[in-house]
Amino acid sequence: MKDFAGKIAVITGGGTGMGRELARQLVAEGCNVAMCDVSADAMAETRQMCEVERLPQGLRITTHIADVSIEDQLIRFRDEVAEQQASDKIHLLFNNAGIGGGGSLFTSTREQWEKTFNICWGGVYLGVRTFMPLLLKADEGHIVNTSSVNGFWATVGPGVSHTAYSAAKFAVKGFTEALMTDLSLNAPHIKCSVVMPGHIGTSIVSNSRKIQSGLESDELSPNEIVATRQRLKGIGVDTAAMSDADITKIALDRARNFLEQAPTSAAAAARIILDGVKADRWRILVGDDAHRLDERVRQSPEKAYTPEFYQDFAKEVGWRLG
Ligand SMILES: NC(=O)c1ccc[n+]([C@@H]2O[C@H](COP(=O)([O-])OP(=O)(O)OC[C@H]3O[C@@H](n4cnc5c(N)ncnc54)[C@H](O)[C@@H]3O)[C@@H](O)[C@H]2O)c1
Repeated sequence: MKDFAGKIAVITGGGTGMGRELARQLVAEGCNVAMCDVSADAMAETRQMCEVERLPQGLRITTHIADVSIEDQLIRFRDEVAEQQASDKIHLLFNNAGIGGGGSLFTSTREQWEKTFNICWGGVYLGVRTFMPLLLKADEGHIVNTSSVNGFWATVGPGVSHTAYSAAKFAVKGFTEALMTDLSLNAPHIKCSVVMPGHIGTSIVSNSRKIQSGLESDELSPNEIVATRQRLKGIGVDTAAMSDADITKIALDRARNFLEQAPTSAAAAARIILDGVKADRWRILVGDDAHRLDERVRQSPEKAYTPEFYQDFAKEVGWRLG
């Protein structure tokens, strides 16, 4: 797809981060946007940012509350899109919503584990199923599924359990790669791409915390304090002498650093993704760190989960994720 003007794009998780920047850039190119999120306030902000641009006459930006892990809510979202965009078709589907957390089979609850998995994997799978009838009606369509570097490298470093997110992101990658053939056989006017970002400056750390805990506050709950102490222990930090206030500060600093110290901004990531779609790339690595990691994992897969591999790589690209 070479041009987005006059098309209709659906974006999940349009409230913040890369979803928000995709919405802004698509609108700036004259594309109609329908976004969903679990946060109405965040979507209202995205919408306001989009409207700062002078919108072409008749361009539609619609916002919809929907949890991508719940099929009924996605179906309602789809029906609202058809009604509010006044169309029985869409051209672009960005399955972007995702959260982290719930990484351990031992120290996370099953509910936390499945929440991450069901949003990161279920949201993509159900998103494709739910919106397929509208994509089929378009003259050309493109599905963009967001995986991660954790879709080919299942860790954020030794000492941190990361099973739910990694399993989901590997699933998104495998599904999207296989979907290419399925589409070419059955719906050749629809293409698909898998997006694998490295470290991108977004609020995903604090958003995931809030969605996992169901709490809006920046204060950590007692369970989160325990989980943060476990995480710190895993990376070799002795927290015995630290107060709960110290632990809270470390967690908040980590979330802020994740946003502020990333090598690639959310806006730059969105540009790379949209350029990738226009160039008809099925495989979109986002950020120099993602490209280098892809090469390193291919070069020495047996070493990919050793502490040395992580340390060398983190040093090379300047990652300080903690
Ligand atoms: N930031 C990174 O470094 C990074 C790296 C690799 C992959 N990713 C992936 O990129 C995607 C976008 O993440 P981001 O970094 O922009 O994060 P973000 O937290 O800024 O944005 C994600 C948005 O999704 C929404 N969301 C969460 N759960 C939802 C649900 N169940 N239903 C609907 N909306 C939901 C959130 O409210 C938020 O607005 C995610 O899939 C994430 O896993 C991010």
